Formats: sequence, structure tokens, C-alpha cells
Amino acid sequence: MPQPVPVPHGLPVDRDAGPFDPPSAITRLRGARPVSPMLFPDGHEGWLVTGYAAVRQLMADTRFSSRQDLGVVHVPYETPGMPVATEPSPQVPGLFISMDPPDHTRLRRMLTGAFTVKRMKQLEEHVVEVVERQLDEMARLTPPVDLVKEFALPVPSLVICELLGVPYADRAGFQGDSATFLERDVTLEEKMAAYGSLTSYLAELVTRKRAAPDDDLLSDVARNADVTVEELTGIAFLLLLAGHETTANMLALGTFALLEHPGQLAAVRADEALLPDAVEELVRYLSIADVFYRYATEDVELGGETITAGSTVVVSLLAANRDPERFEDPDRLDVRRKARGHLAFGHGVHQCLGQQLARVEMRAGFEALLRRFPDLALAVPAGEVRLKSDMNIYGVHELPVTWSDAREV
Ligand code: HEM
Repeated sequence: MPQPVPVPHGLPVDRDAGPFDPPSAITRLRGARPVSPMLFPDGHEGWLVTGYAAVRQLMADTRFSSRQDLGVVHVPYETPGMPVATEPSPQVPGLFISMDPPDHTRLRRMLTGAFTVKRMKQLEEHVVEVVERQLDEMARLTPPVDLVKEFALPVPSLVICELLGVPYADRAGFQGDSATFLERDVTLEEKMAAYGSLTSYLAELVTRKRAAPDDDLLSDVARNADVTVEELTGIAFLLLLAGHETTANMLALGTFALLEHPGQLAAVRADEALLPDAVEELVRYLSIADVFYRYATEDVELGGETITAGSTVVVSLLAANRDPERFEDPDRLDVRRKARGHLAFGHGVHQCLGQQLARVEMRAGFEALLRRFPDLALAVPAGEVRLKSDMNIYGVHELPVTWSDAREV
């Protein structure tokens, strides 16, 4: 039996292979042993799963519990000061991303109706308006501007705020707390302070909604007497965090990737009908929500290895989505590829609830940005763009862009 792979400082996260590619150590590991033993920074041994087939199988198997994972938060083992977990963690009320069925099912079921393809289609016109308004504002500025600040972050924040009934005027607080929460290198205390600040804000908000429901999603859930205020707060936290940080990073990093692949950018500009495929390919290629944790509740055979009950398992969705066993020439961005079947939105019972919303936002966002800024370009050398290797959701901290002529269309 080969020795466990020593990973002294946690998962390799350094983008040594380029801003859009997995760390080279992860790619090597997937080739050598797609289900691989791994040492966590706290010294305990678990597993790292990088192959597409194994990741897909694992995410569909509820013997792998989600109760070691706070979803986009990733507290376990990657946060200094986090104690070693030897059994499934206590559940945080409402945070169904880190629950198992039937608790997970009960809460998720209350929300699925609000996120269907049909409901998102109805929302599309409004998303287009939000995008156009934001680009009107951006066009009035004198370039260079930061695309994250002027476009990528405001659009999904405005949309999720309106959907949930969270005042957009309060964004400085929730965007700041969310960002701290997603940082890898903050202490457990700092992370928990950001969590506390955001959840007290949301607890007050949902309490008001319970007393006087309005016309929004959180009010709809608050009308259900079976849901406690603590659960409502957890739901609000999850939807608000997952609803703005993810799409924001996709819009900014996706624009960066297109600008760095002029042939692909030209293809999308030339044929608008390519946009849905291009969005799907960008989601696969960038896999911004990369790392998720699971906990084996029984001994399970996976990819020829036996994962024993009690093991912590880490999956890399980025590595899985770049697996040559599943996608031809996987490290090439190809907007004509039919990328469906990728795992960037997860798989199984926890598959992303907001994926249709994210698709609507990305299609509207990329379409309008490329149409209205025909000569959009990076305002700094690509090597100077600050990457979010320090965050649990990948992206860019800023994207300085410039243009010479913005179209009023
Ligand atoms: C779950 C990715 C956008 C809400 C997930 C999961 C992934 C993911 C990989 C699975 C987590 C797991 O298995 O533990 C993404 C990506 C997005 C995106 C790449 C953008 C491109 C959104 C948006 C929302 C959202 C816009 C809006 C509300 C959620 C929720 C879950 C989830 C609530 C938990 C589902 C459950 O546990 O049943 N997302 N997401 N996501 N996502 Fe997204």
C-alpha cells in the first residue's frame, strides 16, 4: 500500500499551473490515484477524491454524510483552531447544505418551488433589467474600472436581495461578513465573529418577516409555522451567501478567462446562440466552488479503495471536471463543448439549488457585457490580477478593465 500523500499545509491551493487550472499537485494526484489517502494539517488521515467517476459516485451516495461540511464555508480542518471531529458535527439550524436526509429533505423541499426553471424564466426579464442598469452606471465611469466592484458583485447581490427580501442598502455589512467567512487564512474566532454578525442581522430580519410577512421568498418560508426563527436564519444565511458570492466570482473570473482566450471570446461575440453552451463550459472549466467535505458513516468501496467508517473525505470538483477520462482535452476552454454532465453544481441530494438562477444571471450578464463593451480589455497585465487562492470560493479580488467605446444598446 503506498504511503498517504503528505499535505502538511492542507489542500494544495496554489495556482502554479495558471490562473484557471487546478494546482499541479492535484492534477498529478488525479492521474496517479484518483481516490487518495491524505494527511490533514491537524495530523489525522482522511481521503482526497479527484477523479470524475469517483467524485460523482461519492456525491450520489448518502452514506457519505454532509455533516462535516458547512458547504461554502469549509470550517473543518482548513481553519486554524478547529478541533478534530470524530463524529458527525452538531447541526446548525436551517443550514441544510450540511445536513443529511431526512432533515435536509424537509428544509430543501420548502424551497425547491421557488428555484425551478419555470420560476427562474419568469425572473429572467428582471435580471436583464438589473444587468442593463448596472452597465449603464458602469458606462458612465471613466475607465479603467474594477469589474468586480462595478458589475460582477452588484448584479447577483441585487438579484438575491430582491428575491429574499433583504434590503440592498445593507450590502456593505453582508458582503463584508461573507467575504471574511470565506477566507481561508482567518482564525476560527474571526470566522465565527463574521458568522455571528451576519446571523444576528438576519435573525432580526426574519423575525420582522415572521411578524409582518412581505412579498418575498423569506416571508413565504416564514409563513410556515413549522419552521423556527433559528431555522429561518440559517436558511437566509445560506441563500444570501451562496446567492451572491458564487455568481459574482463566475462573472468576474469568467470575463477574465474569456479575455485571456481571444478566440473563444470572438466565437461568443460572433454568435449569441452559443451563449448557453459557453456559460456551461465556463462553469465546468472554472469550477469556482471546488472543495467539499464528506464524512463516511460506513465502510464504503470507492475507486478500488476502502474508505473506512469515520473518515473525512475531501472532494475536488475542479479536478473532477478536468478529468481526461470524462472530458476530451479537459484543460482547454472550448465554448462549443457540450459541457453538461460536469459536477460544478455538485451532484446528488445537495446539487445546487440556485443553479437555474445562476445560469440566468450568467447568460444575461455575459451577453450584455460583451454587447455593450465591444472592446473590453484588461487594464493591467494578466499576471497582476489578484487571484482568490486565499478564499473558499475561487475568483479574482479585482478585475481592472478598460474600453474605448461603450455602446448605448
Ligand atoms: C449547493 C455550486 C450558485 C444556492 C451547491 C453545491 C455546489 C454549488 C457545488 C453543492 C454543495 C454540496 O454538495 O455540498 C454553485 C455554483 C454557483 C452556485 C458554481 C454559481 C455559478 C448558487 C446560487 C444560489 C445557490 C445563485 C442561490 C440561492 C445553493 C444552495 C445549495 C447549493 C442553497 C445547498 C443545496 C443543498 O444542500 O441541498 N452550489 N452554486 N447556489 N447552492 Fe449553489
